Amino acid sequence: MTKTKKIAVLPGDGIGKEVVAEGVRVLETLRQVRGLPLELIHFDLGADRYLKDGTTFPDDARRTMQRECDAILLGALGDPRVPGNEHARDILFGMRFGFDLYCNVRPVVCLHDRLMPLKGRTAKDCDFVVFRENTEGIYVGIGGHFKKGTPDEVAINEDVNTRKGVERICRAAFEYAVAHRRKRVHVVDKSNAMAQAHELWRRCFFEIAKEFPQLESKHQYVDAFCMNVVRDPSQFDVVVTCNLFGDIITDLGAALQGGLGMAASMNARPDGVALFEPVHGSAPDIAGQGKANPLATVLTIGMMTTRLGFAGEEERLTAIVRSAIDEGVCTRDVGGTASTREVGDFVCARLKR
Ligand SMILES: NC(=O)c1ccc[n+]([C@@H]2O[C@H](COP(=O)([O-])OP(=O)(O)OC[C@H]3O[C@@H](n4cnc5c(N)ncnc54)[C@H](O)[C@@H]3O)[C@@H](O)[C@H]2O)c1
Repeated sequence: MTKTKKIAVLPGDGIGKEVVAEGVRVLETLRQVRGLPLELIHFDLGADRYLKDGTTFPDDARRTMQRECDAILLGALGDPRVPGNEHARDILFGMRFGFDLYCNVRPVVCLHDRLMPLKGRTAKDCDFVVFRENTEGIYVGIGGHFKKGTPDEVAINEDVNTRKGVERICRAAFEYAVAHRRKRVHVVDKSNAMAQAHELWRRCFFEIAKEFPQLESKHQYVDAFCMNVVRDPSQFDVVVTCNLFGDIITDLGAALQGGLGMAASMNARPDGVALFEPVHGSAPDIAGQGKANPLATVLTIGMMTTRLGFAGEEERLTAIVRSAIDEGVCTRDVGGTASTREVGDFVCARLKR
């Protein structure tokens, strides 16, 4: 019998709560009708809790997630009542850095022609996966101010790139390409301007590429990538890049998929707990109005089922999402009139069929 998989659930803030509520219904439905052995553990963490008692990411929650859980489902963090975002930083970085989740995996797949924003292109032209390094770069927070607030002010953020960090994300991208029968891996960097840090990326990438002669290994500067992905996304299969560029190009990727409401992600390492989150933020502009698109969360749960070893479930959920778009049972951001809840109803009903 398959071991029960434990999933930590953190709705977070704003629309995170709304989309995770639908995600939880999808997980419960998967348990009931598909027999998946899932146990959900709910955590009360986010802006409300922080404003109530100052808690951000306590040690007991960290330990439970790391020692007992197989996956974490996170909505989004960010609340206008916490302008410094300190709770979000502690929780998000506590998981990404604390659990050393160095692979941020972001499929950039357009699921329906209606969502394709590029003239003369169809959905089948956009199907690639970005591997974003998730634990280094400028996000390590090393830096400082000198003469702050004066005309001579200096502000520095250090961009940290280690050989270990670069090698392991490049290797993960190549291994994914082989496992998923992809043909090509691109490294995206700025090695012409960042002559040390990104030279390391380029060198490590092509060294590791020698271990995968069956794959085509290519390089693009990030500026050229941004132009080319809009001109012709079909040339990309798997893309590996640093933390900062990954952050930026995956939002560009989301625009090719129909927007942030359609973009899923996984933060993982080969072993241990993995974190799953829709790419979007807490969207305070639409929070509490039933307008949030829960389909990114449904696709994210699809990625989770694959990671947990439940073959076929991700394909099933992806097909249901495609039907929701096709039949117009979707929220305004993707051309429908349905509420968050109604889209969740549709997904659960289709799972029960
Ligand atoms: N991983 C995270 O938790 C995460 C990621 C990004 C931003 N944030 C935080 O979220 C807050 C808001 O940030 P932002 O406005 O820059 O980005 P956002 O992703 O929250 O919203 C950007 C725009 O996209 C729309 N949008 C986003 N998700 C949507 C969905 N599922 N359905 C329909 N429309 C959707 C919003 O209404 C908004 O107009 C900030 O506090 C930010 O720090 C958190």
